[in-house]
Amino acid sequence: MINWIKIRRDFPITKRFTYLDHASCGPMPMPVYRATLRYYDELGGFADFSWNQWIARREAVRRNVARFINAEPEEITFTSSTSHGMNLIAELIAKEGEVLTNTLEFPATTVPWIYRKAKMKFIEPVNGIISYAPHLYPNGTRYVTGQVRSKKKNIEPVPAVPGTVDSRIKTILTSYVQYQNGFRQDLHALGQMKGNRFLVVNATQGFGYLPIDVKRERIDFLATNCYKWLMAGYGGGIVYMNKKWIRKFKPSCAGWRSAPHPERFDNRHAPLKGEASRYEYGCPPFPHIFAIGAAIGYFSEIGLRNIEKRIYLLTDFLIAQLRRRGFKIISPLAPSVRSGIVVFYVANAERLTQRLLTRRIYVSARGGGIRVAPHFYNNEDDIMTLLSALKREIK
Ligand SMILES: Cc1ncc(COP(=O)(O)O)c(C=O)c1O
Repeated sequence: MINWIKIRRDFPITKRFTYLDHASCGPMPMPVYRATLRYYDELGGFADFSWNQWIARREAVRRNVARFINAEPEEITFTSSTSHGMNLIAELIAKEGEVLTNTLEFPATTVPWIYRKAKMKFIEPVNGIISYAPHLYPNGTRYVTGQVRSKKKNIEPVPAVPGTVDSRIKTILTSYVQYQNGFRQDLHALGQMKGNRFLVVNATQGFGYLPIDVKRERIDFLATNCYKWLMAGYGGGIVYMNKKWIRKFKPSCAGWRSAPHPERFDNRHAPLKGEASRYEYGCPPFPHIFAIGAAIGYFSEIGLRNIEKRIYLLTDFLIAQLRRRGFKIISPLAPSVRSGIVVFYVANAERLTQRLLTRRIYVSARGGGIRVAPHFYNNEDDIMTLLSALKREIK
């Protein structure tokens, strides 16, 4: 049994606010904060006497990040944000062919590709749901969407109907979870139907509480930051790239630490490492990397399954209470497409969220309504606090 009451004590923010917006930014848990501070103590007390330990610790974090998403350590590179990571990816493959994406995306997903003049196709959601299948297999007699499952609960394999594949599309570009309405893409189904296209995932709104298995899902590239659901603070991000692509595509930038042996200080050549860390050009942003490592450790101790279950329990409660009060829920609610984000309709959401802020309740105006995104340390009282404040403000 997880002691959620004890865990809540790791979040001093709960004493000040009703904070329900982890889709914007998560508060750093105290154990993660303390683990991160250790770096500054060492920096002040020992400076570069600690260098070798820090490098070893960075590699331990890389291994833990890799394990978290079922990748290999050599496939992980540390970045500063999702946008940074998505630019690294777009730089490699934007010219390979058409990019299929959708109109719900956060701009961090699409801007790096548009900037490089990639040919973009945007598909529209239907009832808040994005289905890539009709666009990948336009004349297919049968195709599987991320939402359709067989009776055995397995996702049906996509039939490769000869001559029906749209071969112009080379990249499928999608968020795992959409920031505007919480729609969760079925990455496994997408991986099944992608054929030999690249599957590029912005994992920002799922990373930290939803399972990601890059091998099972056949993801080619993934980018995320770590300040939202992983609660590791601004400044740190991660890119996964399948090892097949690391050597195939040449980076457009390199630094002295892209070399296999930076300690040789070779200023006449620019050899590249064979690992994704070739994109870490200079000295590492240690505090961000250590915060990511500490957060992954903290989350793993609670257990990702327990975290996911807890968030669904809280969002179930929220949805039931909203419905009882007659609110229209904008987020798609089928179990296979739900996430930790619930958006419901209110008139003038911007104004209302500002009013809620004066009552120390933090939610966002997004997707035509109010977006609520609780985390595992929230409880039903937090949700009831929001609902009673809404009642008072809407009257
Ligand atoms: C899906 C998604 N991607 C990216 C971002 C922002 O990413 P960054 O600022 O790390 O580039 C957000 C922020 O809300 C987001 O919701």
